[in-house]
Amino acid sequence: MDLDFDPTGVLASLGEAELEHYRALLADLGRAAGAFRFEVAPNPCVGAAVLSDGVEIGRGFHRQWGGPHAELQAFEAAAASGVPRERWDTLLVTLEPCCSQGKTPPCTEAILRTSIRRVVVGALDPDPRHRGRGLEELRERGLEILFLRGASALERYSPHFVEWTRPDRLRRSVPWVIAKWAQTRTGQLSPPLGSKDGRWISSPAAREDVHRLRARVDAILVGVGTVVADDPRLSVRGVLDVPKPPLRVILDSSLRTPPSARLFQPCQPGEFAGPVHIVARAGFDAQYYRPLVEAGAIVHALHPGDQGHTSLRETLGLLWTEGVRRVLLEGGPRLLASAFEAEYIDQLRIYTASINGGVGPSMGRFLVAERLLQIERSEVGDDARLDAFLRK
Ligand SMILES: NC(=O)c1ccc[n+]([C@@H]2O[C@H](COP(=O)([O-])OP(=O)(O)OC[C@H]3O[C@@H](n4cnc5c(N)ncnc54)[C@H](OP(=O)(O)O)[C@@H]3O)[C@@H](O)[C@H]2O)c1
Repeated sequence: MDLDFDPTGVLASLGEAELEHYRALLADLGRAAGAFRFEVAPNPCVGAAVLSDGVEIGRGFHRQWGGPHAELQAFEAAAASGVPRERWDTLLVTLEPCCSQGKTPPCTEAILRTSIRRVVVGALDPDPRHRGRGLEELRERGLEILFLRGASALERYSPHFVEWTRPDRLRRSVPWVIAKWAQTRTGQLSPPLGSKDGRWISSPAAREDVHRLRARVDAILVGVGTVVADDPRLSVRGVLDVPKPPLRVILDSSLRTPPSARLFQPCQPGEFAGPVHIVARAGFDAQYYRPLVEAGAIVHALHPGDQGHTSLRETLGLLWTEGVRRVLLEGGPRLLASAFEAEYIDQLRIYTASINGGVGPSMGRFLVAERLLQIERSEVGDDARLDAFLRK
C-alpha cells in the first residue's frame, strides 16, 4: 500500500514554518538514531520525539536489538519532562510505527493510549507486508497522519534495513550474520605459540563487550575446529539483561564434537546459554550420534555444501525456521572464510590487540576497503574495535 502524502488532510492546516520545523526535527532524529546502527541491525535506526504545543518535550531511540522501540523511549522521556500527559499532542517518528507484535508489543497501541492526536513520519516501512499498515490503523482511530516523504529517508539513515528488506532477501530467509573475531596486530586469529595469555588475544574489557553482544543475538555459530581447539562455553556471562539465551550452534560435518565438551556442562549462576545444536552432514557415522545426544545436543543432518562440509546455506535456513534472525558468527578462520566467500556476512565486529604475530591466516584479504560500509572505530580496554557493514 502506498499512502498519499497527506492521508488525513492535515497539511492544509499547517504553515510552512511548522512543516520546516517537522522536517528539521525528523532529519535530526534520523541522524542521532544512526549512532545505534550496529546495536540494532538488521532493525532500522529509529528516533521519535513527543511535542506539546510545538515544543519537543522528550525524545527516544531504538537503542538495542530486541529492546524497546523509539516511540516508547520518547514517551518515557516525555513523562520525565513533567508536562502532563494530556498536553502531549504530536509524535514525530523517523519511520512509521509498527502495528504487529514482534519482540515488543505494537507501537500503534502504545500511541493510542496517549493523548497524541497527530503523528508525523519521515519514512514508510519498505517491507510490503507492513508498509502503511501502522499509519492506516492510526488514521482509522481518528489520528491526524502526516507523511513527510524523504524527511528521514531510510537510504540515508538505515541503509542496512533497506538491504534487509530487499525483495530477494525477504525471499531467501537467512538470518542477519555478524562476524566477530579477535586478531593480533598482524591479523592472526590465534596468538603466537607460548603466549602468556594462553588462547586469549583480546583484553578482558573486549571479552566483556562480546558478552553484551552475545546477549543480543538469537544464536552463536562456530565450526567444530573452534570447539576442539578452545573447548568454549559460548555462553553469556556478566550481563544482567539477557532476553533469551542464544542457541549455540556447531557446524560439525562428521560429529567430531567431544561429548565431554564444556558446552554440555550446566550453567553456573549468572551464566546464560541456549541449547546446543550440532549441524552435521547427512551420512555421518552413527556411532558418534548417541553420545552427543546423551550429552544434551540436538543433532541435525543436512546435505553437504560445495566443499563437502555441512552446508552453511542450509544451516542458516534451518536457523531461520527455528526463529533465529540475528546470528553471531564466532568461528575460526575456516568457517569465517566460507562465510565471506559465500557472502553471508552482513556486519563485522573486529577486535585488534597490540600483540604481533600469531598462528593461522589473516582475514585481511576479505576486508577490502570498498566493501566495508559505515565504518566505526573505537577503543575497548587495550584493544581497537572496528564495526562495519559489508557491501554484498
Ligand atoms: N580469534 C578469534 O576470534 C577466534 C575465534 C574462533 C576460533 N579461533 C581459533 O581458530 C582456531 C580454529 O580454527 P578453525 O578454522 O579450525 O575453526 P572453525 O572455523 O570454527 O572450524 C572449522 C571447521 O568447521 C567445520 N565446518 C563445518 N561446516 C563448515 C563450513 N561450511 N565451512 C567451514 N568449516 C565448516 C570443518 O570441519 P568438518 O568439515 O570436520 O566439520 C572445519 O574444519 C583455533 O585455534 C581457535 O583458537 C580464534
